[in-house]
Amino acid sequence: MENFSFRGKLKNADIALTFHDVILSPGLAEVEPSEVDIRTRVSEHHPINIPFVSSPMDTVTEDQMAIALARQGGIGVIHRNCAVDEQVEMVKRVKRAEALIIRDVITVEPEQSIAEATELMKKHDISGLPVVEGGKLIGILTGRDVRFADPKLEVGALMTKQVVTAPEGVSIEEAKGVLHEHRIEKLPIVDAGGRLKGLITFKDILLRGEYPNAARDEEGKLLCAAAVSPFDLPRAKKLGEYIDMLVVDVSHFHNVRVFEAAKKILSEINADVIVGNIGTYKAAEDVITQLEGVAGLRVGVGSGSICTTAEMTKAGSPTLYAVTQVADALRNYGADIPIVADGGIRSPGDIAVALAAGASSAMMGNLFARCKEAPGALVSIGGRYYKQYRGMGSSSALAKRYSLDRYSIPSKGLPEGVEGWVPYKGEVSVVVQELAAGLRAAMGYAGAKNIRELWEKAKLVALTSVGAEEVKPHDILLPSERPAGT
Ligand code: XMP
Repeated sequence: MENFSFRGKLKNADIALTFHDVILSPGLAEVEPSEVDIRTRVSEHHPINIPFVSSPMDTVTEDQMAIALARQGGIGVIHRNCAVDEQVEMVKRVKRAEALIIRDVITVEPEQSIAEATELMKKHDISGLPVVEGGKLIGILTGRDVRFADPKLEVGALMTKQVVTAPEGVSIEEAKGVLHEHRIEKLPIVDAGGRLKGLITFKDILLRGEYPNAARDEEGKLLCAAAVSPFDLPRAKKLGEYIDMLVVDVSHFHNVRVFEAAKKILSEINADVIVGNIGTYKAAEDVITQLEGVAGLRVGVGSGSICTTAEMTKAGSPTLYAVTQVADALRNYGADIPIVADGGIRSPGDIAVALAAGASSAMMGNLFARCKEAPGALVSIGGRYYKQYRGMGSSSALAKRYSLDRYSIPSKGLPEGVEGWVPYKGEVSVVVQELAAGLRAAMGYAGAKNIRELWEKAKLVALTSVGAEEVKPHDILLPSERPAGT
């Protein structure tokens, strides 16, 4: 009971400053915003080109969002509020969206029917299938071959038998040359024995040119992460076969049972494992000293725009405050683990502040839920378009039950999130460009030419609540505030 006093609890209470409360102090700028480098890491082994991550929420990240965001250079975390097979299927769609060389090639055998081959093409949204027999490439069947064909015919009867191929190790430039010379769209890669080893497609080469900033793995596939409950090892293992990062997804990670469960996941999964959410120095310290192999930390408790956790329970750690707590613990222990700042981010300035506080990237639900690629429904309210957005602890999300264990046991009967609508903003690419431009400008003001410099150089200044109002537009009637009908 030493060092303990009830009065002390108030006297020594920390001030949990968060995004509303601070502003970046302008610093000497040595580079222009366009020269600012915003590349970062989201987990130990995965660099990304923009520090933006989309939340694992069922109105934010499914395959379409993950593909669109990875193409822009960020990464999406596929939500877990669905059956494991559905989640694995979404991950596979992201990993198959583009590749330098497709390794898990979808093939047909010569005795299969044209109907079956057409079905495969439709299911996987592809325009041609290598034909193999005993692993050896014997032909190729394209959309053109099957057009108007009798579906009962065998593939062997219609396939093109003279296939142009390339050996393992062919460069993309060489492959481009071959595709052009023969005016073909698919180039199977075969070994010396004629066995199919991969496939290069014209479409993938085009996409690579179209999205030069995309976040990719070493095979040129888009990076993909997925969320899993700490208590669902079988799902973690299944996802682990395909994904680059697994996010152990629970609202309060600093919990003895969760730590024990996470240990099992960490020991069985090869992919990078990000754990969270945490919000205190002590939680970070316990992760560093008790868990081996953590590759990323998701930080912030209760700041999400749809959160009612802190309101309901009076427990939480606002994201900005939480990030500084965790970042200092990491520094003091010399642990090189990237922090993802999660919850409450409304602007590129908030992202800059989160990074300045020690984060390596920012996770956003609200800002990405507004996009076309988010799964939430698009609705028209009062002549404006909105997208549905809901907390994973909201009643309707909990009703699907798969993410029930994200929240504490009492909350199973007690929602910890709300649902509603956010203004529709269009494509992810547009939102990302706005955020990236704003972030670069903020870093320019702070005088930092990359994120590491922002950690070291940026100064945060606290505002009073009156000051926080002054830094917004004021004393003007904005078009959005104009009374209806005027
Ligand atoms: P934003 O502010 O971007 O925050 O909307 C997204 C983050 O909020 C968390 N999250 C929740 N927190 N109840 C909560 O207390 C919920 O129902 C809920 N759903 C999501 C999550 O960390 C997400 O990334």
